[in-house]
Amino acid sequence: MTGKLRSLGLKLFQKAKGGFNWTSVRPKASLPGRTFFAGRPKLLGALGVLAGGAGLLIYALEASVDASSDCVHPPHQDWNHTGLLAALDKESVRRGYFVYKEVCSSCHSLQYIAYRNLVGVCMTESEAKSEAEGITVKDGPNEEGNYFDRPGKLSDHFPSPYPNEDAARSANNGAYPPDLSYIVSARKGGEDYVFALLTGYCEPPAGFTLRDGQYFNPYFSGGAISMGKVIDNEVVSYADENVAASAAQIAKDVVTFLKWTSEPESDERRLLLIKVVLMSAFLIAMSYYIKRHKWSALKSRKIFYIPELERQAAQAAREAELAAKKAESDQCNRCENKNTDKD
Ligand code: HEC
Repeated sequence: MTGKLRSLGLKLFQKAKGGFNWTSVRPKASLPGRTFFAGRPKLLGALGVLAGGAGLLIYALEASVDASSDCVHPPHQDWNHTGLLAALDKESVRRGYFVYKEVCSSCHSLQYIAYRNLVGVCMTESEAKSEAEGITVKDGPNEEGNYFDRPGKLSDHFPSPYPNEDAARSANNGAYPPDLSYIVSARKGGEDYVFALLTGYCEPPAGFTLRDGQYFNPYFSGGAISMGKVIDNEVVSYADENVAASAAQIAKDVVTFLKWTSEPESDERRLLLIKVVLMSAFLIAMSYYIKRHKWSALKSRKIFYIPELERQAAQAAREAELAAKKAESDQCNRCENKNTDKD
């Protein structure tokens, strides 16, 4: 196998050199790496077996941890936004915002998102403004030093349903409804998990005891969750009549919305990726061409060293030199003869 690869590599290399049969003028280059492993197939084999074994061990450990976990794995859903070049379904994000507002916001905060973030994503500026005006914000102090209530502005963050964690716990049987801003990134399984959690409520199996205020959900770690089933058919009504307000649709929309809040920059990142790939492909092709162009004269130069020709050339030069000398001395002799003639 390696022998075949080697001969293929050599062939390609020879082709790349432009079909020249370069008899080597220089001594063969010897790279340190090449000589180190050359003739040590056993060492190479041992290294390979070791690396493979370590990989298998890590995989087995991970699988055993997964298998011994205390909840059901969420099935994978076909999201519109999975894939390298796919964008978020913005209509779904918009519907999801209304589901959050109608259903989840009575228990969960979304404190890292401001109303201005909605602009250009799933709302126009005036729509987002009127959404913001629907909340009351405590502001101040004013000129008289008093705190006052005012309608929300675009720059305000989403309001939290409870003033602090203790209030949230006491209203929910001691369980704390977490902030949902980054929930999709924060949980293993991401959007699949949140979707499965919202739609996965069922009767507990025989022998499973639930405390007061707990519900059974096989996707939640341990199975007993303090959040009741909040999503059901028609729990919200959509403005768009073509979209059925089924439990699955509502859950899908709110999860898509939460995916956006977890990674608001994901669409821009993908756009940037397209630009970077296109630009760097162009630049790499250009630099390859320029490199070949600059080096072509040097790389295709052929230097001959033929001793016989050289000897002949040296002889010819010597003969020419002698002839020149002879011609010179002849001329001198003639001059001398002339001089004697005069005398
Ligand atoms: C009546 C109050 C209430 C409402 C309404 C509610 N939740 Fe919850 N939620 C809770 C509580 C309480 C917890 C904590 C559960 C626990 O730790 O046992 C929770 C936990 C969660 C979790 C975290 C689960 C985990 O893995 O820790 C997610 C995700 C979640 N809720 C999503 C939602 C979504 C989405 C909505 C709206 C569709 C929603 N919730 C509506 C009370 C609520």
